[in-house]
Amino acid sequence: MRQPIVAGNWKMYGSTPRVEQFAAALNAADVAADVQLLVFPPVAYLHGFATGLGVSDIELGAQDLHVDQEGAFTGEVSGTMIAELGGRWALTGHSERRRYQGESDALVASKFLAALDAGLTPILCVGETLAERDAGDAAAVVTRQLDAVLESAGIERLGLGVVAYEPVWAIGTGQTATPEQAQEMHRIIRDRVRAASDEKSREIAASLRIVYGGSVKPDNAAELFRQGDIDGALVGGASLEADSFLRIAAAASDAT
Ligand code: PGA
Repeated sequence: MRQPIVAGNWKMYGSTPRVEQFAAALNAADVAADVQLLVFPPVAYLHGFATGLGVSDIELGAQDLHVDQEGAFTGEVSGTMIAELGGRWALTGHSERRRYQGESDALVASKFLAALDAGLTPILCVGETLAERDAGDAAAVVTRQLDAVLESAGIERLGLGVVAYEPVWAIGTGQTATPEQAQEMHRIIRDRVRAASDEKSREIAASLRIVYGGSVKPDNAAELFRQGDIDGALVGGASLEADSFLRIAAAASDAT
């Protein structure tokens, strides 16, 4: 039984009042204990968020991290700094970073390892563009992105993280993948992990959580969560309001 995750990626949105309101709403809510709730605010708000959430079970993370723990890298933030601010998780390889910061598969793999080294749980984001899907390359692209981490981190360390399948064409577009399209890719990812090595990889594939991201909303979440290989969601736009975020969490709880 894999515990579902509902994670909110705030991207570069937020403000101190918004963080305070959101944390207060989450503290007051009756959050289903069977779902793991995560929020990835801009790193500037991590500490404020952690303080606002108090002793709640909701965990926080950063949307990115640098591969080194410290150094002359102006503007960067390391995994140990994120941990010190109250973060327990890190997104790696979000498509917006692959696209706007030119992050390669190799760099994403290094960040995945850096997160683990700093004691954070990494979420590896993978996903194809519309052009890649139209060309029939979706599975090949996602497999390549996954293999980069499998090859450098190894199956056991991959298994310490979470995978998020986020088709680029579904992010922020309102055009979500159908439950069947999402399930098909989640199955491909799980099969790939299972085939990676031996006995161990079967166990890791069975327990690996693979969440879906791309225009997840309260009204389409339940159908996605009913799919056998979808273990929750990475939510962008709909995670900015506590109400819609909590409704998605409730849908994940109902599906367990
Ligand atoms: P969206 O974003 O829910 O707004 O499509 C998802 C993401 O980028 O993680």
